[in-house]
Amino acid sequence: MVQGFILSSYVLGIKTIATVIYNQMITRTRYVRDSYKELDISELPPGEVLQTSWNGEVIFIRRLTVSEVKDTMALPATTQLDKAVMEPPSDAGNSSVLVCSAICTHLGCIPVPYLGAYKGWVCLCHGSVYDKFGRVR
Ligand code: FES
Repeated sequence: MVQGFILSSYVLGIKTIATVIYNQMITRTRYVRDSYKELDISELPPGEVLQTSWNGEVIFIRRLTVSEVKDTMALPATTQLDKAVMEPPSDAGNSSVLVCSAICTHLGCIPVPYLGAYKGWVCLCHGSVYDKFGRVR
């Protein structure tokens, strides 16, 4: 009787572990399938921001003008909080389109574009300020 109970507990445990692993595999497959997205931004005017989603996350797409890129690159490094992100957003020679997460790095709210001293984004939850490259200022 006791041996039957122990054996059934082992079987139930193995079944639970197999179910968890199977569910994780299903989830991973879904994210791989959703990771590709094509979006026509030809109608997005320079200087404007588009909010959309990709791979289950809210993202911003910003089309920068030449003067916006130049002005943002000229901002002093002293006002940038995350010193690890010193590079301009693109090293592919095309820095006119920015794609970045729309999740505030503080606690996860969605910042509002075109606001603040840098006219990038401002998070209204607690006041985080971002420049037009999405860097925390
Ligand atoms: Fe954005 Fe706190 S969540 S400032």
